[in-house]
Amino acid sequence: MPVLGEDLVLTDREMQRIAALVYERSGITLHDGKKPLVVARLQKRLRALSLGTFAEYLAYLERDRSGDELVLLLDSIATNHTYFFREEQHFTLLAETVVPKFRRERRPMDIWCAASSTGEEPYTIGMTLSELDPPMDFRMVASDISTKALKAASAGVYKLASVEKLPTPVLRRYFEKGLGESAGFARVRRELRSKIDFRHINLLEVPTFDRKFDVIFCRNVMIYFDRAVQQRVVSALERNLRPGGYLFISHSESLNGITHRLRWVAPAAYQLEAL
Ligand SMILES: C[S@@+](CC[C@H](N)C(=O)[O-])C[C@H]1O[C@@H](n2cnc3c(N)ncnc32)[C@H](O)[C@@H]1O
Repeated sequence: MPVLGEDLVLTDREMQRIAALVYERSGITLHDGKKPLVVARLQKRLRALSLGTFAEYLAYLERDRSGDELVLLLDSIATNHTYFFREEQHFTLLAETVVPKFRRERRPMDIWCAASSTGEEPYTIGMTLSELDPPMDFRMVASDISTKALKAASAGVYKLASVEKLPTPVLRRYFEKGLGESAGFARVRRELRSKIDFRHINLLEVPTFDRKFDVIFCRNVMIYFDRAVQQRVVSALERNLRPGGYLFISHSESLNGITHRLRWVAPAAYQLEAL
């Protein structure tokens, strides 16, 4: 059935073409029930381009050889919902179980936060490691397919409401409050921001890194993928883990039905067996 969004109509056929494109480029599955979401999220793009119909939008997408509109399409479709200390048990596990194993090696831990959205997750990891006594040094890559989310992440500016639940000393140590025009916002201090290398990485096309990682966070993204894409992503993550390294997925995700060499260590936490 066509869906109306204000005066916009998305036909079944147009929905299928958008869903096919999104799946091919990002692995995100958009079933028919997501039609209202697609209309709601794309109408801004259509308005920005002064286009009146999805047929015109699809024609525009196909004509755009630069690929820029496809990036904007994925930016609009991807769900970026995240927050500081989401699924907090993982940060406790990181601090109390994972870090002690790596301390002996006397080198910075190598971390990859894949699907890092607007940055709350990598900054939470950074704060957790920096708060330890003594602090655990780290190198971190944080990546996402959404260029918009990455831009927000590297700016590190958040509404005060989204950081106010952090303990006051943590807030003071890692954020600076905005003044004047920036009142109502807090910015992650440069010292922490500069420790994170934000990169545009599509989990369907994981690059070869110059190192393997001790810890990979890849949470709340596989829920948008079907089994085939999950398998491809988990295999890519596993290839990038050091033996003994840890993978964190979300508590609402599972590796059931996926072929892998990881050992379950705690809910939504796995370890690649040491050689
Ligand atoms: C719901 S957010 C999860 C953020 C964070 N990991 C958390 O758990 O709070 C999902 C993120 O996955 C990203 N994403 C979706 N498909 C992706 C892909 N193929 N490659 C990389 N990132 C992707 C989205 O842009 C979005 O920022």
